[in-house]
Amino acid sequence: MTDAIDYADDERESESGRQIVWRARSVGLVAVETDDAELLHRWRSDPVAAHEIGIWPRSVTAMRERIERDGDDDDRDDFLVVLLPDRTTVGHIALSGQDIVNGSARIELMLAPEHRGRGHGRHALDALVDLAFGELPMHRLTARTHTDNAPALAVLSGSGFVREGVSRSACLHRGRRHDLAVSSLLRTEWEALDRPRAWDA
Ligand SMILES: CC(C)(COP(=O)(O)OP(=O)(O)OC[C@H]1O[C@@H](n2cnc3c(N)ncnc32)[C@H](O)[C@@H]1OP(=O)(O)O)[C@@H](O)C(=O)NCCC(=O)NCCS
Repeated sequence: MTDAIDYADDERESESGRQIVWRARSVGLVAVETDDAELLHRWRSDPVAAHEIGIWPRSVTAMRERIERDGDDDDRDDFLVVLLPDRTTVGHIALSGQDIVNGSARIELMLAPEHRGRGHGRHALDALVDLAFGELPMHRLTARTHTDNAPALAVLSGSGFVREGVSRSACLHRGRRHDLAVSSLLRTEWEALDRPRAWDA
């Protein structure tokens, strides 16, 4: 598995089956496939991601099985984030816990270590938010991260998420309990955002 989805034009993209299913200005989203297990496993093994998201590395086989299970779940959609136009694969984003009755879902976001700090997180988040509110009947999106995860909190706030509370002592990592900040974005707040939507790209 390479980090770049290697297709030069739309024809090859379609032949490869790795179509960009959602496009925004600077990023595209590609549905996660089982063969992405190695890549996701590598990213999830990064100590910063493991700390901030509260995950620990398991085997690549377990990752493959998880992708297969997630693929069968109607309540989540997982995507690789690719940069446009060169299609370098930079991270993973998911809309999980989708509850169509209540219109709620959670956002999960993780960039490869070498692609952090360049603003891609904000663009990926905006793209998924536009998908959730523009194509799905979502009313409320939430995200949870450590209260001291400054880049994640800045990205969430930049995308319009409002910090609504703290889940105290909600996460165990390296022998210590951590508080989790809960942020949310409501449909009405998204509608009021003064920025182009993904489909304006
Ligand atoms: C969190 C994450 C997605 C952020 O994406 P990113 O593209 O790397 O974000 P950036 O580093 O470009 O920073 C985004 C903002 O945070 C700010 N920031 C970065 N580090 C900061 C710090 N230590 N203190 C304060 N602000 C900081 C940047 O200045 C930037 O602000 P701006 O949008 O106003 O310019 C990425 O770092 C990541 O994948 N981390 C590991 C997994 C994770 O924590 N996921 C979050 C779960 S919600």
